Amino acid sequence: MIEIIIQQDYLAMSQCAAQIIAQVVIAKPSCVLGLATGATPIGTYQELIRMHKQGLDLSGVRSFNLDEYLGLGLEPEKAYADDQSYERFMQEEFLNHVNIKKENIFVPQGKSKDPEKFCSWYEEQIKQSGGIDLQLLGIGGDGHWAFNEPGSSLSSRTRVVKLADQTIEDNYQSFFKKAKIEKKQMPRQAITMGIGTILESRQLLMIANGAKKAPVIAKALEGPVSSEITASAIQIFKGDAKVVLDKSAAFELKRCRIEV
Ligand code: GLP
Repeated sequence: MIEIIIQQDYLAMSQCAAQIIAQVVIAKPSCVLGLATGATPIGTYQELIRMHKQGLDLSGVRSFNLDEYLGLGLEPEKAYADDQSYERFMQEEFLNHVNIKKENIFVPQGKSKDPEKFCSWYEEQIKQSGGIDLQLLGIGGDGHWAFNEPGSSLSSRTRVVKLADQTIEDNYQSFFKKAKIEKKQMPRQAITMGIGTILESRQLLMIANGAKKAPVIAKALEGPVSSEITASAIQIFKGDAKVVLDKSAAFELKRCRIEV
């Protein structure tokens, strides 16, 4: 079942998403969280950090990130702007500020010498951890989850993928440009959890904000289930799925109009 929760603005969306995650952590302190990157979850992470400062204990949590650019990975000697890896992003935006144990943090290793082998290892680690209890997800401008670009099989597993032109453009505008990195220097490939991998999570939490995301949110939630919009796989998810949107991102939904 999909529950769609529409909030007034980005802050309210972030607070609501953080509450949902905190409830899972409180109910099961040794839970496995699937984490996401992008501009969207930053507010959610800030809320979780605030809750942690007020006593939310994450010491039993295990986390798995969705994806990483191929060739990028944490470079402690580099300044933030020069290191646009998702591993660095996660540390800066969340992991350095909470008490998840280092050995329980998993981020795909974009600098791995054998990325294909790494992908199988990553899948195995998720399995050995008992599976993901809650997977946090954003949505790309082209409807992707993680880096499952249009055309990705809905049963795909963790693998190396080629990035779509729109994703390169979107992520250039949101991150690389601000860091003064030229578009031609951006990675063209990534390691991503597959849609099949994501669908094995026990709970999904998708978040989106802003008018730019409205058309793709409508397609994902109310359009046909299709590998062209991989986030539409939420419609065939068997567990409990929640979608938390701000009003602008919900604007083009036709069947769902819950005002808050
Ligand atoms: C990237 C990530 C996705 C994320 C998407 C949206 O492509 N791989 O996991 O959902 O961007 O990002 P944003 O939240 O910045 O719009």
